[in-house]
Amino acid sequence: MIIILLGAPGAGKGTQSEILQGKLQMVHVSSGDLLRDNRKRCTELGKIAEGYMVKGALVPDDLVIQMIVERMDAPDTEHGILLDGFPRTPPQAAALDEALNAKGKRVNRALYIKVEDETLLDRLSGRWTCRNCGHVYHEKFAPPRTPGVCDVCGGELYQRDDDKRETAIIRLRVYFDQTMPIIDYYRNRDILCEVNGEQPIETVTADLLECLR
Ligand code: AP5
Repeated sequence: MIIILLGAPGAGKGTQSEILQGKLQMVHVSSGDLLRDNRKRCTELGKIAEGYMVKGALVPDDLVIQMIVERMDAPDTEHGILLDGFPRTPPQAAALDEALNAKGKRVNRALYIKVEDETLLDRLSGRWTCRNCGHVYHEKFAPPRTPGVCDVCGGELYQRDDDKRETAIIRLRVYFDQTMPIIDYYRNRDILCEVNGEQPIETVTADLLECLR
């Protein structure tokens, strides 16, 4: 199974992927997490990506496509992949199809988590992420038991540099200009399932699982 999670920044793709990967025994592949890991390790890719990410712009297609295609070749992806944050442009969607076709595979379902703009900005500005395990919290909607400390691993929580309001507004604009067209790409193939992402986290999970029935 190849499942794609679509939605604006802050829609809940990472939150839901983390829950679904446990329930479905699939591997969560997040383009944003892979890029942040490259930045942390100061790789060539990480150094190039940083300039785009801090401004809220997309990293060039060729770099992201190569990174994801390599990740999809790892042995742990054999039983299925939950793709979060990729594809994000029409050329990325075409490259994904091409890479999957070459292996006799295809995208089975595209799950679209829909959330209104004002909610998205609230979610991004209140988000805290664990530096160690990547678990995501929200200061109002999903707070940790102890402020600043991860419930899962005890790691330190931090706020992403691209979650500042000015950068978040740019990311939303980039999403509407460059990523929205691929919603129709999957809708036209009849594999898109839309879910109301304004509901509580567990209700969104239930609706996503219903899409996969
Ligand atoms: P990326 O890391 O992919 O960020 P994003 O798509 O902008 O998505 P987010 O991680 O911001 O949001 P999310 O939907 O995962 O929400 P979350 O679950 O955390 O990309 C970052 C950057 O990397 C890009 O700007 C770009 O530069 C680059 N990049 C990445 N992929 C690329 C690609 N393919 N091509 C080119 N460049 C690329 O939830 C948000 C908050 O809301 C959390 O605090 C959470 O606790 C809370 N929350 C979640 N669900 C609910 C709910 N139902 N109710 C209440 N609160 C909720």
